[in-house]
Amino acid sequence: KKVGVIFGGYSVEHEVSVITGMQVMENIDKSKYEVVPIYITKSGKWLTGSSLMEFKNYKDNNFKDVKQIMLSQSLNDHNIYLHPEGSGLFGKKILDKLDIVFPALHGTNGEDGTIQGLFELMNIPYVGGGVLASSVGMDKILMKDVYKSYSLPIVDYMWFYRSNWSKDREDVINKIEEKLGYPVFVKPANLGSSVGINKAKDRDGLISAIEIAVHYDRKIIVEKAVESPREINCAVLGYDNEVITSLCEEPMGWTEILSFEDKYIKGNNKGVKSSGETRRIPADIDETLRIKIEDLAIKAFTSIDCKGTARIDFLLDKDNNVYINEINTLPGSIGFYLWEGKGISIGKLIDKMIDIAIE
Ligand code: DAL
Ligand code: MG
Repeated sequence: KKVGVIFGGYSVEHEVSVITGMQVMENIDKSKYEVVPIYITKSGKWLTGSSLMEFKNYKDNNFKDVKQIMLSQSLNDHNIYLHPEGSGLFGKKILDKLDIVFPALHGTNGEDGTIQGLFELMNIPYVGGGVLASSVGMDKILMKDVYKSYSLPIVDYMWFYRSNWSKDREDVINKIEEKLGYPVFVKPANLGSSVGINKAKDRDGLISAIEIAVHYDRKIIVEKAVESPREINCAVLGYDNEVITSLCEEPMGWTEILSFEDKYIKGNNKGVKSSGETRRIPADIDETLRIKIEDLAIKAFTSIDCKGTARIDFLLDKDNNVYINEINTLPGSIGFYLWEGKGISIGKLIDKMIDIAIE
């Protein structure tokens, strides 16, 4: 069977996706599947075959050197790719020749249901969550609204449009201070990898955090900050009621925010090699807490009808209260490192994800 592995994409997580794509292509069972690499450029062009080979970065072999890709990015200067040249028709032509697609994409147009909608229309099986799970999982507001409706533990939050901010800042600030107080986290509703996220401890901090967030998104979510938090992540694999959980991990060596830099340059969160202790697998938590987290991870996964694998990120406060921070429906590196300790190698994980997609 021909499996199209799609990576890159129109997203601030473009580079992260390149890594995930490489890992999937390297580890997929070549005796069962023929891999067709499909790279979506930052401007939205779909490249495969000779057009991909001719593409400068690919030819220069830059994709192989993960750290190089990361370091070559200016971390404070994530472009929002507002004007994709697009090439929907060309994309459709490429997809037409495949038996299945594996979107190794993160964020906008890859993890948010849009490309999943294209696969649905083309009637081509694809790995990962469907349109609904992807779009709900990508929007931090809708995600929290759903989890709240299931009484799953989440921190207090509120949200507003960029236009509310332009019209009446005072009103937005008052509502935030009234409902949440300080400190809070300000986040663009639809980005991943901590891009555009800032903590605010007072009114000045809040204003500058919002100014950054509105640069990235029309919708802004503000969340009550958990004091001295630990982050614990757990992945789920499966579909419907047939789901299993991975080991839990604790990303280490961060303080206020597990930033883009922590995640990819230092390597806390991904399959990126780094020096120093960047994460603990399994996380150092007791049995009761582990069981609770695994149970919540499954509920977070099934309540939005997720499929394939997702990584659910939790926050623990100093009294070990657990909060679901978010779900990542196409986690970086497909979260393979969380499964190894459960006897599921990355190759097996990819296999299972494909099986789930075509069953
Ligand atoms: N959004 C990134 C890829 C993650 O959460 O893994
Ligand atoms: Mg996360």
